[in-house]
Parts: sequence; C-alpha cells; structure tokens
Amino acid sequence: MKIAVVFDTLHPEWEDADYKKEMEAKVEEAEYDVARALLENGHDVRLLGVQEHLPPLLDRLGSFGPKVVFNGCEGFRGHARHEYAVAGVLEMHGYRYTGSSPTALLVARNKSLTKKILAYHGIRVPAFAECHPGEKPVRPSELRFPLIVKPLLEDASVGIAQASVVEDDASLAERVKFVHEKFSQAAIVEELIEGRELYVGLIGNAALDVLPIVEMTFGEAETGEHRIATYKAKWDEEYRKRKRIRNVFAKGLSDEVTAKITEICTTAFHALWLQDYGRIDLRLTHDEEVYVLEVNPNPFIAYEHEMANAAEKAGMSYQQFVQRIVDEALKRDHGTA
Ligand SMILES: Nc1ncnc2c1ncn2[C@@H]1O[C@H](COP(=O)(O)OP(=O)(O)O)[C@@H](O)[C@H]1O
Ligand SMILES: [Mg+2]
Repeated sequence: MKIAVVFDTLHPEWEDADYKKEMEAKVEEAEYDVARALLENGHDVRLLGVQEHLPPLLDRLGSFGPKVVFNGCEGFRGHARHEYAVAGVLEMHGYRYTGSSPTALLVARNKSLTKKILAYHGIRVPAFAECHPGEKPVRPSELRFPLIVKPLLEDASVGIAQASVVEDDASLAERVKFVHEKFSQAAIVEELIEGRELYVGLIGNAALDVLPIVEMTFGEAETGEHRIATYKAKWDEEYRKRKRIRNVFAKGLSDEVTAKITEICTTAFHALWLQDYGRIDLRLTHDEEVYVLEVNPNPFIAYEHEMANAAEKAGMSYQQFVQRIVDEALKRDHGTA
C-alpha cells in the first residue's frame, strides 16, 4: 500500500535527501520510526517533509498518490498552534490521513477549551483561569495556591519548569508575564493537583483499546521541589538520571481505580473527538480522585517511548502498533469519496 508519512521536523541539510537516508539516520523523531515500521510491514513508503510552503508538499503527494497519509506533523513553520491546519490541508485535498481531525487538534491544543468540554462531560479537571496578554492578571478568589502557570497552547511541557508553580500573587504575575513574553500567547493558571502522574494511551475509535497505564515516578524530591513533568523532567536524560525520574508501568492500582480511569479516558477521548489514537494525562490524588490534565490527540509515538512500550505490553510489536493506527484510519469514513 502506498503510504506517505508527512512530518514537520525536517533537517535543513536533508531538504532533497531521499527518505531512506533519513530513516537510516535514526534520529529520535517518531516519523522515522513510523516510516521504518511501515516499510518493514511491506508498504511503499514516502517520507514527505512539510516546509515553509505547501505547494511542494501537495505536488509530491499528488504525484505519489498515497492510499493514506500518516500525519506526523506537530506544527507548521515551527508553531505547534498550527498543528490542526496540516490535517485541514490534507482533508481539503481529499486525502485519508491517520489521527485526529482539525477540530480535535485545535480544541485539544487549547488547555482551557479542553477543560471546559471535559467538565461538561462530568470529568474532574483542575480549577483554572486564563490570563491574556495586555490584561492585568487577577486571580479569581476561588483559585487556591499553589497554582501552576502554563502557556495556553503548547505541549510537550514547553514552558513548564519548577518556577511554573507559584505560591503567591507576586510570583503569579511574574510567571504570567514570562509566558506572555516568551511564548506570545495567553497563560493558563491552574490549581496544582498533588498526586500520581499517569499517562494512558488509547487506540481505536468506536471500540477503544486502553493500553496499560504508565506512571512518571520521581525520586526523593529536594525540599520545595514539585513532582511535576517539567520540560527537563521529560526530555533531559541527564537530569532524569540525577533526579531518578522514570516512566514505568503504574503499580498497585486497584481494579476499581483502573476501571474508573478506563471509563474516564474513554469518555475524554470521545468528548474531544479524537480519532485512531491518543494519550490522556492524569493525576490520581491520595483519595483516588482522577483529574484529567490534558488530552493529547497527537502523542509521541517513537519506538521504545511510553506509548509504544504500553502497546508492546498489550501484545503489539512496534510494527503492529503503527499498522493498527493505519488500519483504524482506513476503517473510518473520511467523507472523501
Ligand atoms: N494542574 C496541574 N496540577 C498538577 N500538575 C500539573 C498541572 N498542570 C500541569 N501539571 C504538570 O505539568 C505537566 C505538563 O502539563 P500538561 O498540561 O500536560 O502540558 P503539556 O501539554 O506541556 O504536556 C503535567 O504532566 C504535570 O506533571
Ligand atoms: Mg501533558
């Protein structure tokens, strides 16, 4: 089957390189792993990088004529907030593609909109407020410290550090200003939910497989340190070693809590109109309340990272996991006939 893997993390020196060279480079980007897995599954695969301009992408898609596009784009022109638009372009041009629609990508990208929709469906979310650039941040009196300040429209813990957690109005104002200036976007201020940090991968559509639950565990935190998935805690291997931060399969969850998490994640997946696959980030409090922090329609699916590992624990090799996403996409009605 002809499958185009569309992605946006092109290395400048690879502009005209053929996809095999890129795959052999074994860069830690999911799209190369995905392309390699699809090749191993016997497909005719083409890696197509999205750059500044769309016409070359559309020309190359047009001449290749894929049966389905594996959409590995996490943004456009370096902006994560344009992620939805690439799916929109594929849709407008009648291509079938894997993963969520522009609607889901746009809504899930917005941490405020997401929480409003989840709350409508009866899912617990942290209390929050938005702070827009140019407006004086006024903390609604019902929001209780400690609070966490995040960019409204980023992901992958971009803009999240220990300093994101604030204990008073002065630090709150300072961190909100930092988000406005550094990221040119609104900030979201949320109550900090203490508890276990859990990630739940899901695959499917009407029938959903909930993958084994992954937990980010933190070693002994130094005094005043918060157990949160900062940018460093997620991506800096040295730091993770030093702080003994690990992603492991969650242990000791009762059947009752596991069932509750499964139900909440399934509801959240559909509430946000996700398609094919996704990951939900949760906090489980000491009294076993489940809070959804966010819903990721485009989670990191690189080989040997948490979602792929969870799929493997559920009995899928990496090749089967990637194939399953393609199969789910092909089973859906794309309205492109
Ligand atoms: N309200 C919150 N309470 C507790 N921890 C939080 C909260 N919001 C974010 N965090 C911490 O910050 C991490 C990243 O936040 P998240 O909203 O998932 O953003 P991203 O899209 O960058 O992953 C979470 O995984 C969690 O560890
Ligand atoms: Mg997250």
